[in-house]
Amino acid sequence: MKQILSAIAIIVLIVSLVVISFTIQQANDEQKNLTLDLQHRSSTLADNLKTSIEPYSNGDSNDYLQTLVDKSADKERLIGLAVFDNKDNILAISSDLSKELTVSSQLFVATVMDSDNADGEFLSPKDSQKVYVFAVPLHTTDQTTGKESVSGSLLLMQNAGYIDTAVIEIWKNNMIRLLVQAILLAGAILLIIRWLIYQPIFNLVQAMRNARSGLENGKTKLGNHFFFQPLINEVTNISKSLTEARTIASQEARLRIQKLDSPWTSQRLKEFTKDVLKGRNIVVVSNREPYMHEKHGGRITYLQPASGMVTAIEPIMRACEGLWIAHGSGNADKLVVDKDDKVNVPPDEPKYTLKRVWLTKEEEKGYYEGFSNEGIWPLCHTAHTRPVFRKEDWEEYQKVNGKFAQTVLKEIKNMHKPIVLIQDYHFALLPRMIKNARPDAMVGIFWHIPWPHAEGFKICPWRKEILDGMLGADLIGFHTQLHCNNFIDTVGHELEALIDLETFAVQKGGHVSYIKPFPISIPFLEETSSLTDDDFDKKEFLKDMGISSEFVGVGVDRLDYTKGIPERLLGIEYFLDQYPQYKEKFTFIQIAAPSRTSISEYSQFGEKVEKEVERINNKFKIKHWKPILYIKKHHTHEEITKLYKAADVCLVTSLHDGMNLVAKEFIMARSDENGVLILSQFAGASGELKDAIIVNPYNTEQVGEAVRQSLEMMQSEKMKRMKKLRDIVKNYNVYRWSADLLKEMVNLE
Ligand code: F6P
Repeated sequence: MKQILSAIAIIVLIVSLVVISFTIQQANDEQKNLTLDLQHRSSTLADNLKTSIEPYSNGDSNDYLQTLVDKSADKERLIGLAVFDNKDNILAISSDLSKELTVSSQLFVATVMDSDNADGEFLSPKDSQKVYVFAVPLHTTDQTTGKESVSGSLLLMQNAGYIDTAVIEIWKNNMIRLLVQAILLAGAILLIIRWLIYQPIFNLVQAMRNARSGLENGKTKLGNHFFFQPLINEVTNISKSLTEARTIASQEARLRIQKLDSPWTSQRLKEFTKDVLKGRNIVVVSNREPYMHEKHGGRITYLQPASGMVTAIEPIMRACEGLWIAHGSGNADKLVVDKDDKVNVPPDEPKYTLKRVWLTKEEEKGYYEGFSNEGIWPLCHTAHTRPVFRKEDWEEYQKVNGKFAQTVLKEIKNMHKPIVLIQDYHFALLPRMIKNARPDAMVGIFWHIPWPHAEGFKICPWRKEILDGMLGADLIGFHTQLHCNNFIDTVGHELEALIDLETFAVQKGGHVSYIKPFPISIPFLEETSSLTDDDFDKKEFLKDMGISSEFVGVGVDRLDYTKGIPERLLGIEYFLDQYPQYKEKFTFIQIAAPSRTSISEYSQFGEKVEKEVERINNKFKIKHWKPILYIKKHHTHEEITKLYKAADVCLVTSLHDGMNLVAKEFIMARSDENGVLILSQFAGASGELKDAIIVNPYNTEQVGEAVRQSLEMMQSEKMKRMKKLRDIVKNYNVYRWSADLLKEMVNLE
């Protein structure tokens, strides 16, 4: 747009220069013509009057002269006239001129008499319009000598202001014309660019994008455009080829569904959902949106939030092309949605629709910061941070759950038996609200965080309402069997409900909810290809980060007190104390994505981590080396993948975690089958990833020893462990997770 505006500005500037030079010419000509005309009229009039006035210029008949002057003064644009004797005395003067006569006009008369030559001059008296004065000398002849001498002068004063007015008028008219022309020209250029260039290019891009993403199966109509016809033909052919290739891939994936040992891919999930859902729509609801649009310096960009839930659900939505409803929290989110608050995402390669729900500041504070993150989050994580439950937060939580319920119900209004997948602890009340209004909808809720033991859950004043809301779902999913057990136990303690421990089902008010573990995962297969080992130069990458150590450790977390970052740092301190030979040889990179910063527990926690980093660095630093590189900022998947590839060891030391996908992402990045994972026994992932070094993050010595063990592990041992870990994540990737969840839901009917 900037370039188009610059081009328009240049064209308008050129047109303006042309118009201005023509106007200068026109104004000069007009001024010249009017001046000549005025001079000519003045001299003709003076000559005519001179004949009748000259005989009386000796001062003998002043009354007659005055009558003559008065009579002659009545002419258009003539201010007046006056007759002077040769001593510069006024013999006769018209009444209007007597008011206007200035010293400079009188001086001019004297000059004319001295030179004995008629002359004219423009004068600009103060406070009055420009005038033109013209004077002719009058003569008398000596009767005796017959000699002619100057006896006086006739002065005419003409109004000359109209010449300037005419010139100004020319400028005014031409400038108005220029303005109108510039507006019309700019409009015409914009229209031409839009119709002839922008629209066809936009259609071409859209067609290519649709062809690439499989939307509309490459059938976008491109129409005929003279300029772009060859390009359009080419794009149409590419679209066709892509559609054919996709059809073949889809047929192959269908065949693979039959073969149980083949890997789960997005294509396989797509075919699977087609097969299982038979045209039923999938709607995902979460608080956190998969893409946030942000405005920085006038430019709108987007980012993917640091969220395990987003990491897991986004690839499924790409594969299933459903609708995702989430809170619009980016500062430019409103600028990119359509009238229904929807936007197609991923922004560069649209595959599914994101519908944004807007929340007020109060709602966000009460529902998100307060009840969800100061209440349920610490309650479920049992990480020794006191849960805070406030009545006003609970009210906002109920209100926002209701708001999302209304949005979901509106969206599924015309869907037949839709599948609604609710994500996380922000929406415990939503399943009941949806199920009550749409009993035909298949409702599932997946709880991405741990579920505490029944005694711990008693802290929540609204525990019964939360449980009842969740039990509106047909399927309630957790990451681990332990969390399912805790949930069933909690229901048994809190509600009147029928519990079937054989099928892990709860019957309440005639409705049955099944409770099942689904250990969430990551895409694995496809994403690894974005950065191959050949592309990656570890030394160069670390050098760019200012690291020259032989060994590198990495930690990647949201800045959250459940992630065990201070405990990890203590472990590193212990390691360096015990094994000082690693000083200057080992650097630990801690990436911390700022999170929930308006909650005081989080800002205090951020300060605590920073102080701890500083303390340990000051304790060990030698010349340019320091043991910990702390980077507090959001990173893209691509950047983090590089860090994982560069690390000898990755530390995941959560004090309590539903699953922890950082552990799985590290494994995915290690296509070189190298690197060691240190994993907390309190992260859900530890149940699957047995070949990591499993530690208790509260045991500083154990964490420190694990760091040493990982750095000194035999290469063959490292590779053996990493291979097994990769097999596990590859085999149970997020596509399989999603297929299991959907299959379970459909089978419940
Ligand atoms: O992974 C658990 C989770 O609560 C997600 O649901 C959430 O998106 C993520 O942590 C990050 O938290 P937030 O969305 O509050 O930034």
